[in-house]
Amino acid sequence: MVPRTDRSAVLIARRQLTPGTYAVRFQLEGPFSAPRPGQFVMLAIEGSDLPFWRRAYSIAGFGEGIDGPWLELMIKIVGPGTAHWRTAPMESRARILGPLGRGFPVEEATGPIAMVAGGIGLPPLLHAMAELASLGISCDLYLGAATADELIEPESCARAVAETGGRFFACTDDGSAGEEGLVTEVLGRHLDSGEAYEAIWACGPNPMLRALARLSAKRGVPAWLSMEERMACGVGVCLGCIAPAPGGEHVRVCTEGPVLPAAAIDWEAL
Ligand SMILES: Cc1cc2nc3c(=O)[nH]c(=O)nc-3n(C[C@H](O)[C@H](O)[C@H](O)COP(=O)(O)OP(=O)(O)OC[C@H]3O[C@@H](n4cnc5c(N)ncnc54)[C@H](O)[C@@H]3O)c2cc1C
Ligand code: FES
Repeated sequence: MVPRTDRSAVLIARRQLTPGTYAVRFQLEGPFSAPRPGQFVMLAIEGSDLPFWRRAYSIAGFGEGIDGPWLELMIKIVGPGTAHWRTAPMESRARILGPLGRGFPVEEATGPIAMVAGGIGLPPLLHAMAELASLGISCDLYLGAATADELIEPESCARAVAETGGRFFACTDDGSAGEEGLVTEVLGRHLDSGEAYEAIWACGPNPMLRALARLSAKRGVPAWLSMEERMACGVGVCLGCIAPAPGGEHVRVCTEGPVLPAAAIDWEAL
């Protein structure tokens, strides 16, 4: 497990992704352990108690520049915490605790991997694709959204997946771009037509993850699913992120996940 730190950080860049989502880049003040794909951070506004609990974000990108380490996050606006960084002035200050949790099993990967992203589930998969590309492991990306407008940066996604030697499949519920249907249905159709994958790596809303867990069990393709349960502490203390596991057990998603094998969760009880 890479050591975590709680660092001050400065907002240095922002760009709009879709009408309701945007990306932000923070320059970290001091060393920060290189995160594993799928790990997350807890983000606070420095000098403010609001919102009271830090907010959890998957890491979309990480690098070391001449000014030190930086982190990129992608944020979907749902409430005050996620709205804050949309209008905060450049040079605004944050506190970033991380990297946290367990990521995707990069060391075990041989490929090809089916990456499945539902909406704002994309960030940890972008990070994973960059890592797989550097290891020469291929993956296909299935990116799902309700409509064409809500697909997050499809051109960049296509480039990122091409770096791994894989293909990009946009999927929209209304068929306004790419293949029509839920992203899970499109993956199912591709498996039906003979597409073969070593594993499925995914992040998105719980109904999508539940459908993938069923698909994984039915087809015998192992799945690693990144969960985005609500979190308060992010470090295993508050039990606010508990999810049901088979046999009446429970897992703390923040420390045992957020990336978990599909069979580790009782999806029907969630
Ligand atoms: C490990 C992890 C990684 C995450 N990665 C990202 C990411 O990369 N990008 C991103 O935009 N978001 C991500 N999230 C979700 C993000 O943390 C929440 O959207 C955020 O905490 C909401 O804060 P808020 O103050 O804007 O909204 P709040 O006022 O707290 O909530 C607004 C509404 O959203 C609901 N809500 C809040 N959090 C969640 C949640 N986690 N799941 C379902 N419903 C929720 C609330 O019930 C309420 O209805 C992640 C969550 C986790 C646990
Ligand atoms: S968020 Fe506190 S225990 Fe997981």
